Amino acid sequence: GDYTGPLRPRVHFSPPAGFMNDPNGLFKDNNGTWHLYYQYNPTDIVAGNQHWGHATSPNLYEWTNQPIALFPPNSTTGVFSGSAVIDANNTSGFFQNTTEGVVAIYTLNTPQKQVQEIAYSYDGGYTFTPYSGNPVLDVGSNQFRDPKVVWYNDHWVMVIAYAAEYVIGIYTSPDLKDWTHASNVSHIGFLGIQYECPNLVKLPVKNSTSNDDQDGWVLTISINPGAPLGGSITQYYPGQFNGTHFEPYDRATRLSNFAKDDYAGQFFYDEPVSIGWASNWEYTNIVPTGSEGWRSSMTLPRTNYLVDSGVRGYHLVQEIYDVSPILSKKLSSSDNNLVNTTISNMNFDNGIYFDMNITLPSDVTFSADASINFTISTQTSRECVKGGYILASSTPYTIWLDRGQTDGFDNPFYTDKFSESQLKPAKRIQGMMDRSVFEVYIDNGAVVGTMDVYPTEPFTTLSVGSRSLPKGSEITFSAWELKDVW
Ligand code: FRU
Repeated sequence: GDYTGPLRPRVHFSPPAGFMNDPNGLFKDNNGTWHLYYQYNPTDIVAGNQHWGHATSPNLYEWTNQPIALFPPNSTTGVFSGSAVIDANNTSGFFQNTTEGVVAIYTLNTPQKQVQEIAYSYDGGYTFTPYSGNPVLDVGSNQFRDPKVVWYNDHWVMVIAYAAEYVIGIYTSPDLKDWTHASNVSHIGFLGIQYECPNLVKLPVKNSTSNDDQDGWVLTISINPGAPLGGSITQYYPGQFNGTHFEPYDRATRLSNFAKDDYAGQFFYDEPVSIGWASNWEYTNIVPTGSEGWRSSMTLPRTNYLVDSGVRGYHLVQEIYDVSPILSKKLSSSDNNLVNTTISNMNFDNGIYFDMNITLPSDVTFSADASINFTISTQTSRECVKGGYILASSTPYTIWLDRGQTDGFDNPFYTDKFSESQLKPAKRIQGMMDRSVFEVYIDNGAVVGTMDVYPTEPFTTLSVGSRSLPKGSEITFSAWELKDVW
């Protein structure tokens, strides 16, 4: 692939060329190599002709593009989204002499219907052979897709979307070949026009009042179109799962991102780590990266857990996965000097990552303009992305982002502004500008915003500051230039 284009992210994964959407088949092999497959059209820069592209990484940032892993059998079919598992106990019977056999479970989209197929790999996920008994699940529907499989005690569990009926089906299997319907979760949250790409995974639960190790479950459902901000978004439900039935803890719908470009996220098999697709079906087929021969990138990798946040219930926290491999030159490091002052003109080429830790005096009233602000601009300062955090408790504590002052993409659905409020003031703000993707993580991922940005010339400068913070406040701030992993 040609990764030299000015909109090419340096550390967010993007395909060598062509069009990419959902992450698929995520797993980590026994050598510690992470495998990312993805919905891929290798022959055009719009969706269609779906294959499974493939890349591998030792650290989830430095990726090596691999040969395409799954091909559609003919030109009228597509290999749609799905997942992968390691069949360590050879439940499938495909693997006589290895505990490292990989099975991919995916939707074959045909003109008549969507059926579920499996394919097995003897070489750790580089090449796959479709099972001769395919399909393994066929309900005669043309809107039945995106199987995600996990192991539960003594059987496999699949969640899958009856997309047009607003139903998530839960199926069980002893061997990945025979699937039995166990239960449904239906009509929860925002419906949109379709349910897509469900995940049901076990995650650690962190409780603020005890150190007990606990596990909880989370069901994610992606909807498209029809998100509250338009187009695509992912919602999630913390809850209990007993091997056949899922019960959400409460009736709330929570969104995993407050901006517009984070969809169809998937968890790695048996790991609390996830990656989303950093785009939105409302405009993904026409974004300006097409002129560089590629479209779409993934979100940053994230380590997930649930937090019991008391009256607001369980909350999904999505921490940025260890960024140390992708930081190069330190651009700024300053202790306690971001209070009521500005650091301007930190210059970078590839992109920038910044991290601020905020300590505020307790029991203070914030003045109405108390805030932290950042601006990332282009060389001529003609275009910029802005954001900040408002501390005035009347607001209340609110992160905001604005991509409106960029000139590279004119589209009615390319919304300019995003925000989300919290009950308590933030303690940490991490941000990353990676060419055409900007992400912000508040309080280690308690709140996440992902937005694509399309300037007509490269971003080169960060300025950051705060104002009207009360006496006794401290902000430690550091920023690093991003490495170019390509
Ligand atoms: C979600 C989705 C899936 C489908 C895939 C096709 O973005 O629509 O439901 O399997 O993309 O590429």
